[in-house]
Amino acid sequence: MTAPSDPVLEAESDAASVDRAMLDEVLDGLTAPRKTIASKFFYDARGSQLFDAITELEEYYLTRAETAVLQQQAAELAARIGPGATLVEFGSGSSVKTRILLDALSGLSAYVPIDISGDHLDAAAKRLAADYGLPVIPLHADYHAPLVLPPQVPRDTLVGFFPGSTIGNFEPEEAVAFLTRLRSFLGDGARLLIGADLQKDPARLEVAYDDAKGVTAAFNLNLLERFNRELGGDFDLEAFRHEAHYDVDLGRIEMHLVSLRDQTVTLGGRRIAFAAGETIHTENSYKYTLESFAALARRSGWRGEASWTDPENLFSVHLLIAD
Ligand code: AVJ
Repeated sequence: MTAPSDPVLEAESDAASVDRAMLDEVLDGLTAPRKTIASKFFYDARGSQLFDAITELEEYYLTRAETAVLQQQAAELAARIGPGATLVEFGSGSSVKTRILLDALSGLSAYVPIDISGDHLDAAAKRLAADYGLPVIPLHADYHAPLVLPPQVPRDTLVGFFPGSTIGNFEPEEAVAFLTRLRSFLGDGARLLIGADLQKDPARLEVAYDDAKGVTAAFNLNLLERFNRELGGDFDLEAFRHEAHYDVDLGRIEMHLVSLRDQTVTLGGRRIAFAAGETIHTENSYKYTLESFAALARRSGWRGEASWTDPENLFSVHLLIAD
């Protein structure tokens, strides 16, 4: 839990220590005609904890289904990829999924985790290096921006790993741009192993994003708590509620924070008016079919080599090749 009386946390709302770029981006979104906040802001320390708790929820099938597919297909993956590959993971992996691959792939040359949060990354890298006796070369970087592989990375057989259906946070056009960039970053002959959640019964999707214990609601509302603490805002957390709905036409879950009354919030010296029922759009999570994801991959210069789903057809894992 956050501790508002903690002097270290309080100091963060001093005008001098406010992250100006973050404040400007948040204010831009909140003063637009339709209010939005980028979903990357979910992941402060508390938000990351809440996300980990989400992955354990009964309703949130994604993590379990993807893990099951990886376990099920580990031997086939190893056979296709062959020995001596370098595994490059985008985003700090749930080490559970990473370990399935490290266990299955024989004679890996190196593991390169890429993540924006440095401390987390280094600690996880040390553990994996020790457990697997493998060169682990962590890269502190935002994978949304151009990337360069450190020169010591063996690059004969590169395999990118982008699990979790994180690709679903991109607009489809942005996803194509991103996958195209990964294609040129990893180079000819490389592979990409990527997870994508599947379209399904809207009711099943909606409970996955609005669980009975309210963990996803807390995850969504944590944005406001974070802005209060880090940006000196005065959001009343009781005056907003979590909402998740599936748009069948767009094939996406939308998460919103709904204002429960007419109210004015102050953030970074700006006054922001909310009408009762007005929302802040905080996340899109696109869902694909096997075909629509394969088409997206093809448009990005990748060829689908294989794809797999769990027995319930909830989630898909695609092995793409750059040939
Ligand atoms: C981490 C983006 C894959 O979209 O399912 C979970 C984030 N949001 N519950 C997802 C999330 C609400 C998650 N991703």
